[in-house]
Amino acid sequence: MTVSADLRDSAFLRAARGETPDHTPVWFMRQAGRSLPEYLKVREGIGMLESCMNAELITEITLQPVRRYGVDAAIFFSDIVLPLKAVGVDLDIKPGVGPVVAKPVETLADVAEIPELTAEHVPFITEAVRSLVAELGATPLIGFAGAPFTVASYLVEGGPSKDHAKTKAMMFGAPDVWDALMRKIGGIAAAYLKVQVDAGASAVQLFDSWAGALTPADYETHVMPHSTRVLAAAGELDVPRIHFGVGTTNLLGLMGEAGADVVGVDWRTPLDVAIPQVGERSVQGNLDPTLVFAPTEVMLERAGEIIEAGRAAKGHIFNLGHGVIPSTNPDQLKRLTEFVQGHPLA
Ligand code: CP3
Repeated sequence: MTVSADLRDSAFLRAARGETPDHTPVWFMRQAGRSLPEYLKVREGIGMLESCMNAELITEITLQPVRRYGVDAAIFFSDIVLPLKAVGVDLDIKPGVGPVVAKPVETLADVAEIPELTAEHVPFITEAVRSLVAELGATPLIGFAGAPFTVASYLVEGGPSKDHAKTKAMMFGAPDVWDALMRKIGGIAAAYLKVQVDAGASAVQLFDSWAGALTPADYETHVMPHSTRVLAAAGELDVPRIHFGVGTTNLLGLMGEAGADVVGVDWRTPLDVAIPQVGERSVQGNLDPTLVFAPTEVMLERAGEIIEAGRAAKGHIFNLGHGVIPSTNPDQLKRLTEFVQGHPLA
């Protein structure tokens, strides 16, 4: 696939590579979703996972925030558990709850039952990425996957969990099952990213949202080797890799070393604390997602501080410090996008 010069020189890809674009690129995690009336309209009566398996809906929903905000990148509309659903794991995404797994994973036999993912499991992904890349032109499309720890948490707990107690009980108490499960999920994540990049995605993000539940030593021993394998496989595809987690103040260095080109920083860690930890890598973040509920001038003042702090990084991609909150007023995100893009870097 030939990549156009305009796409290659987009502000997003330049910042991801550690070059200095004309403005700080901006996109928002969960920019497609319930904060958009046009999203709620096309999703009416259609389940979340069903939407994620329909190429036409994926394409429409992915484009909605690009049209509305003019953000510097699109993120593929899917979910971290979609590849598991696609290979046949019995799970659902319940509104207001999140992913729920019918038969949580406990044993080596449970792990062995989960098939590896091939492109044949996800023809709708290939189709949607191709149509998106054609529509997006010079706007990059970010593909994504869930990192092994975060996906394992849903599979082992059976649903969302605050303390990840069952997951960590397996990690500490059944190392053989843990290793097999992390390898299986990591293989699925790597294959899922490859399908997206082969079809034309120009960057990938690995979401390890719940990694902040771990001490650095436990992360390094039990989780990092598996994420490193996924990021190494993505590295073979020659696209920038973003690695993001929540509550990861103590893990940012390790998350960079796992093989990221860009380390995603949540809003709790100021960028001037994060940047020295990640060293010669770019950073992404990190406005507190609740600041959209503050007066516009307060939100923009904070955004200005984050852009200024980001200058010390090898490259900086502006984002929220976690996903868009569903009750967010899209007009605030529009103002935020215009502010970031209008703030000269040179
Ligand atoms: O960022 C984007 O715009 C792309 C789409 C995207 C979704 N999920 C769509 C979605 C992405 C990147 C994800 C990743 C994801 N899914 C993560 C990692 C990112 C993060 O937020 O930390 C996690 C942990 C999940 C699991 C998951 N799926 C949760 C916790 C929920 C929310 C449950 C709820 O209803 O509050 C989901 C469902 C989900 N995934 C929705 C969307 C738009 C909402 C479902 C709906 O609209 O009906």
